[in-house]
Amino acid sequence: MSISHHVFTAAVSAAIRAPSLHNSQPWRFRRCPDEVHVLADPSRTPPVADAGGWATRIACGAATYNLQLAFAVAGQPMAVQWRPDPNEPTLMAVLRPTEPRPPTPHQLRLFQAIPRRHSNRRPFLPRPVPVEVRLAMVTAASEEGTWIDLVVGAIPAAAVSEITHAASRVLHRNEAYTSELASWIRHERAGTAGILADADPNDPEADAYDLLPLRPLSDLVDGAGRTLTDDPLIAVLGTAGDTQQDHLLAGYALQRVLLTITDHGLASALLSQPIEVPSAREQLRIALGRYGTPQMVLRVGYAEPTSPTPRRPMADVIEASVDGTTDPSTRALRP
Ligand SMILES: Cc1cc2nc3c(=O)[nH]c(=O)nc-3n(C[C@H](O)[C@H](O)[C@H](O)COP(=O)(O)O)c2cc1C
Repeated sequence: MSISHHVFTAAVSAAIRAPSLHNSQPWRFRRCPDEVHVLADPSRTPPVADAGGWATRIACGAATYNLQLAFAVAGQPMAVQWRPDPNEPTLMAVLRPTEPRPPTPHQLRLFQAIPRRHSNRRPFLPRPVPVEVRLAMVTAASEEGTWIDLVVGAIPAAAVSEITHAASRVLHRNEAYTSELASWIRHERAGTAGILADADPNDPEADAYDLLPLRPLSDLVDGAGRTLTDDPLIAVLGTAGDTQQDHLLAGYALQRVLLTITDHGLASALLSQPIEVPSAREQLRIALGRYGTPQMVLRVGYAEPTSPTPRRPMADVIEASVDGTTDPSTRALRP
């Protein structure tokens, strides 16, 4: 069953909306006559923060989720196979068509959430995350073969916050890490990658990644004097193991969880410092009482909307197909 150029480019435009460390977008996509390949792009990997490739695999897993969802919505479901070829280590996933069928209402809703999902680093509003959303997050993670722990109560939340603080301090003692991070922070909207400094409206000069773990959230007050901090939900997504395939699966499930949160009208942000520092990750695992491996910390809540971050043009992420053609189309997907 051959894969149409038109559906492929539309699906790639959905895939590139996935999150990535520093908005580095370390992925490429290839259309073959009867399969689609998701490849890691090592030239885009931040070499200090992602020396082992964990973040690249999380990002490629998340992009694969969007890609597969877009094909399903086009009536062409695809089966995913992770890292099928040991001789091609950058090949993260292969998607192959299965029996065509119309999308489910649930797939349509998640697909429509893709352009509305983005990281929101603002303080969250004092409104609890409804039980229905908490349950939907847990279901989304477990149906994709991962787990999610909701950190409930002041003491566990303080423990996760302290672990995150400590991890951040470790990372910031490394000059190579801080200068690499600085190189990804943009102070104007121009550009197609990186994090906008204005993602943090309270302190445009701040290191955008430091705001959440390092500021006491209770200090943040909006223009009307309301505290914007109560009740953000902290959650930790993890996997049974910690292989390269587990990282891809974590990214894949993470994207489903993030789209589920967006579909319910809530905002989310990611925190990876406690994952990037091995001792912090182990402390986090112990604090959660888990045998598995934490792969990402999420902050979830209601928040004032923020703008989406930019993406590289489609032509930069699409490889020549095996039939020798390229797919430079930038046709946007219209959910
Ligand atoms: C592996 C990984 C680690 C990340 N770590 C952090 C983090 O520690 N702090 C943060 O604010 N955002 C983090 N992010 C979110 C990215 O900065 C964000 O996805 C990227 O800038 C693109 O923006 P978007 O999510 O709004 O599309 C991470 C994303 C990924 C995939």
